Amino acid sequence: MKIAIGSDHAGFPLKERIKEFLVEKGHEVIDFGTTSRESTHYPLFAKDVSLAVQSGEAERGILVCGTGIGMSITANKFRGVRAALCCNEYMARMSRLHNDANVLCLGDRVLGEDLALAIVDVWLETPFEGGRHAKRVELIAEIEKEHL
Ligand code: RB5
Repeated sequence: MKIAIGSDHAGFPLKERIKEFLVEKGHEVIDFGTTSRESTHYPLFAKDVSLAVQSGEAERGILVCGTGIGMSITANKFRGVRAALCCNEYMARMSRLHNDANVLCLGDRVLGEDLALAIVDVWLETPFEGGRHAKRVELIAEIEKEHL
């Protein structure tokens, strides 16, 4: 899978670890930065990753900041992006099964590395369930057309 990834300074260490993990698993990673722990601004990276997912350049996106909250707020401003802030494997699984989430947001200051990687793994492996959930995802797209 082609995966776009990005973080701010607070998410940088975990972003780098996730990148390694994805490459080990055979995924192709497009890294939109940041490139160090120097203070920066999370919306810039959320925007680049969201545009990559929106355009189809990447199939999925992963965003990391201190809490994952700023990334998820920003990513969900982009039409076609369904960003899910996940704090455990259950949320990651449900965000795929029910919401067809195409961007995963994580908090480096909230999660340990092992848990974060377990969340990424489950999120990448779980398919969208479709059925009644497809109608609900379509309704999100309609709301985007009307209000975004
Ligand atoms: C940076 O200090 C922090 O505010 C940011 O990484 C993120 O947690 C925002 O939601």
